[in-house]
Amino acid sequence: MLNDVKKNIYITSPIFYANSNPHIGHVYTGLLCDAWKKFNQIFGRNVVFTSGMDEHGQKVMQSAEKNGCTSQEYVDLMSNSFKSCFAIHNVEYSNWIRTTDKKHEEAVYEFWKTLEKNGYIYKNKYEGWYSISDEHYIEGDKYSMKATDKIVWREEECYYFKLTAFQDRLYDYYKHNKEVVIPNTRYNETIGLFKQGLRDFSISRPKERLSWGIEVPGDETQVIYVWIDALVSYLSSIGYPNSEYKELLPAVHFLGKDILKFHAIYWPALLMAADLPLPKKLVVHGWWLNGDQKISKSLNNAIDLQYYLETFGQDAFRFYLLSNMILGEDCSFKDELFTQNTESILSNKVGNLFSRLIGIAKSKNIEKVSYAVLDEELLSFVAKIEDFSIKLIDDMSNFDEYTNMFVELVDILNVYVDLKQVWTLSGKELNDSLYRLLYCFKIFSVFYYPLLPDAVRKILNYFEVDINFENAKHHKDFIIKENLILFPRQK
Ligand code: MSP
Repeated sequence: MLNDVKKNIYITSPIFYANSNPHIGHVYTGLLCDAWKKFNQIFGRNVVFTSGMDEHGQKVMQSAEKNGCTSQEYVDLMSNSFKSCFAIHNVEYSNWIRTTDKKHEEAVYEFWKTLEKNGYIYKNKYEGWYSISDEHYIEGDKYSMKATDKIVWREEECYYFKLTAFQDRLYDYYKHNKEVVIPNTRYNETIGLFKQGLRDFSISRPKERLSWGIEVPGDETQVIYVWIDALVSYLSSIGYPNSEYKELLPAVHFLGKDILKFHAIYWPALLMAADLPLPKKLVVHGWWLNGDQKISKSLNNAIDLQYYLETFGQDAFRFYLLSNMILGEDCSFKDELFTQNTESILSNKVGNLFSRLIGIAKSKNIEKVSYAVLDEELLSFVAKIEDFSIKLIDDMSNFDEYTNMFVELVDILNVYVDLKQVWTLSGKELNDSLYRLLYCFKIFSVFYYPLLPDAVRKILNYFEVDINFENAKHHKDFIIKENLILFPRQK
């Protein structure tokens, strides 16, 4: 029993670059957040989940030009495209923040002014290499850039943030709070970022070069750097600077490994500078690969989302993504494995178990299955789920174990049906076995709502219980109705 139900939990996905349509990597980030939200919700916790769009910057301007529309028209299109993609995938965010929203602009202004007031912003000249592809100044010489960077030499004035003022405090913080970055490999990477020493970084660009952005307060010649603009969305979406946002902090941020430095170094330092609480957790995932290449819009190697959705349904897609990627590591998308997962696990183990149980009851003309005490075997099944819930709810680093347990648990129930030869039983023996199995299937289903929301909604609707773990645990008779096909087999 989880008795420490906290009032609110605040989670965020990164906000997505509005320079092209969503692909599998974006969907995965969204699904991971959504799974975590749903997992907390089944235990009665209220989760606020922010997602949205990162709409300023040069790349967005260029994409708009290429598509023959204004930047604003283009970001409106992209925002709708991401929103409908998330709706199809059952990603249920609570706030959709866009960096072109008025309330966001006001929050960025306020945030900037706070940093300025606290003495952490200064103006300086930048001379060095600039990456056009990533829109950032390259630290060190031009050989420290990535092979994919398109670079140019720049000499210009801009504002800097005094990151160096936070180096020791930040390092100390990570040394004493190892659990903040998960998984552990990404924590080690975070510590590694301090090795060469941190440098102050530029937080604005000359407006003549980049007009599509938020102006620096009090200096109309400069525009705020996209990353400061973007990171503040984690605050603006929950009402900053009005005081209600405080109740939700600290936040749990989900992100891909490519943006670790921005979240593990820049963001906490900016929060310190603004006297705000540091993130509660950074949950860092790896990349979906096609072969051994990162799937990305620039490489044009995306997986055809539409095909998988139409052929297998959104649950199958979500299940494949969430149960095959080890948190923090890269994973290659494999069509054969996808098909095999869907058939051998979802159709044959889960769907089949449910229709087998209903089928047996119907073949014996049973309309109602009445309460029976669980036997030892199935008591331990329920206990295993309960114990694991407590282990997972406060420590997302156990998420891989949660997805791995799926097959193990459903197998226990399938083996039980076979060992007891339930279809050969009759009278009380049949009723009791069916009751135990249906009860455990109900608990199993609610526990895996985060992985299979569509199917679980159907199952819980059939059992007439809402999506809540405690409610599902209550004992009540099962009314046998028409059988359900949860995961249709592919022809
Ligand atoms: N706009 C920034 C984030 C600002 S957050 C304050 C950004 N946007 S993005 O659209 O490029 O990426 C959004 C998320 O998608 C990131 O977490 C990124 O890691 C993730 N992915 C993009 N491609 C990916 C894969 N191929 N695989 C998994 N996730 C990857 O970065």
